[in-house]
Amino acid sequence: MNEIDHVAVLDFGSQYTQLIVRRVRELGHYAKLYEPEEVASLGKPGAIILSGGPKSTSDEDAPDIDFDALDSYGVPVLGVCYGMQLLNIKFGGSVKSSNRREYGPAELKPSALEGLYADISDSSQVWMSHSDTVSDLPDNSKVIATNKGGTPVSLQWGDRYFGIQFHPEVTHSHEGNTILKNFLSLAKDLAPFIIEDFKREMLDGIRAKVGDKQVVCGVSGGVDSTVLAVLLNEAGVNVRAIFVDHGLMRMNEGDEVRANFARMGVDIETVECSELFLGKLAGVADPEEKRKIIGNLFIDVFWDTVGDAEMLAQGTLYPDVIESASNAKSKASKIKTHHNRVQRILDLQEQGKVLEPLAELFKDEVRELGALLGIEQDILDRHPFPGPGLAVRCPGDITEKKLRVIRECDAIFIGTLKAHGWYGKVWQAYAGLIPVKTVGVKGDERSYEWATNLRAVISEDAMTADWVELPPALLREVSNRILNEVDGINRVLYDISTKPPASIEWE
Ligand code: XMP
Repeated sequence: MNEIDHVAVLDFGSQYTQLIVRRVRELGHYAKLYEPEEVASLGKPGAIILSGGPKSTSDEDAPDIDFDALDSYGVPVLGVCYGMQLLNIKFGGSVKSSNRREYGPAELKPSALEGLYADISDSSQVWMSHSDTVSDLPDNSKVIATNKGGTPVSLQWGDRYFGIQFHPEVTHSHEGNTILKNFLSLAKDLAPFIIEDFKREMLDGIRAKVGDKQVVCGVSGGVDSTVLAVLLNEAGVNVRAIFVDHGLMRMNEGDEVRANFARMGVDIETVECSELFLGKLAGVADPEEKRKIIGNLFIDVFWDTVGDAEMLAQGTLYPDVIESASNAKSKASKIKTHHNRVQRILDLQEQGKVLEPLAELFKDEVRELGALLGIEQDILDRHPFPGPGLAVRCPGDITEKKLRVIRECDAIFIGTLKAHGWYGKVWQAYAGLIPVKTVGVKGDERSYEWATNLRAVISEDAMTADWVELPPALLREVSNRILNEVDGINRVLYDISTKPPASIEWE
């Protein structure tokens, strides 16, 4: 989709580059990520952003840009951090190295509240992260903002090149979105990001690529694989959707997944292999060992079922495609399968047999697409659920009894969250098992049973998480029900650990 007036973001390696793409899309424009080497083939950009990056422009292997190619588009260009320093060099200035790093919040003082800085305050908090600074400013440049100490942190060269020494894309830059919006307003006729257009193009693309071949995909009931399967079905291609039930699913989950797909008119093929998985896991207590067993078995079962696939579709999303948006190999290296078998996918990819229609979308865009495809909201709003399932919520060895206990506690907790309108406010929630027996009293009798941990967190990207301050009355209701209804539990604990240092799952 680069034959429309989109915003091309050239990635110099900053950890925030994807966020730039995201912010631009939030502002209603279509944005796409490229490697700097691709500058000569950006299609039809309406504006170009050069991202930040970890290198110093003086490093031997510092990434460069073909300036003539960049300039040939004749559109507004914004250089962020490294991008700004590179532009300053291209215009004849230089960059001063320093081993003093400015990192964190800083005050931005625009020279005038116009252009890039229209509608922002005269002292705005921005997020800095750099050690080098621009110097020897070229003749055609002007300083359009400084920091509190008077150091130039934003330049304009000529009338369509801009540079900023801070990250407008992070929320710590309080007016960053306005600054990006001001920059984009300088571009002519930027194409809006319309998910309906995207859907139409995706369907056409899928039909063209698949033809009359059979395409297989794995479904788990999660949002991404569900949207993928429904999209393939809607495209009218020959799909084989496979659901591997490893026996580590939640209460009635397999039935629900099947019922949901049936409602959506998509045939799925269940491979029931609980016994196989639980058999191999019997007596295994080490978390890494458990994960390895599950990961390997899952892939074996999937590929045994598939046989020689004509095509494989995967629900890879944009954030999974980190290193490069264009390089098929690095895309595949990010696919969430077990490392030892990624080669198989790489081989298929090499032969053009891998289809990743969602690879240009962010999670919320996938949800929007899903809604457009008629997928019900409760499916689209599902909390994330880990691939290894309840195994990571059951410390130590796994038994049928422990799984039964976890399922019952979890169903009560999740059901109560839904009943009180809290499910949608929480990013992820579950009940797990603490396989430690403690003494209690049930009825008139001494009990000696396990505990359950309730976990409810908010998070943006799962990298960090905070526990949720659920109402005490809700927690009391959950606790009462679990203690009364779940055989095997006599203690209910609420996990108030942030991530880091704790993780969201217990294993
Ligand atoms: P942690 O426990 O690392 O979890 O804080 C972060 C997020 O990732 C999910 N998770 C997994 N998802 N395979 C997955 O597909 C896994 O092995 C896995 N481990 C954790 C977890 O549920 C949370 O959303």
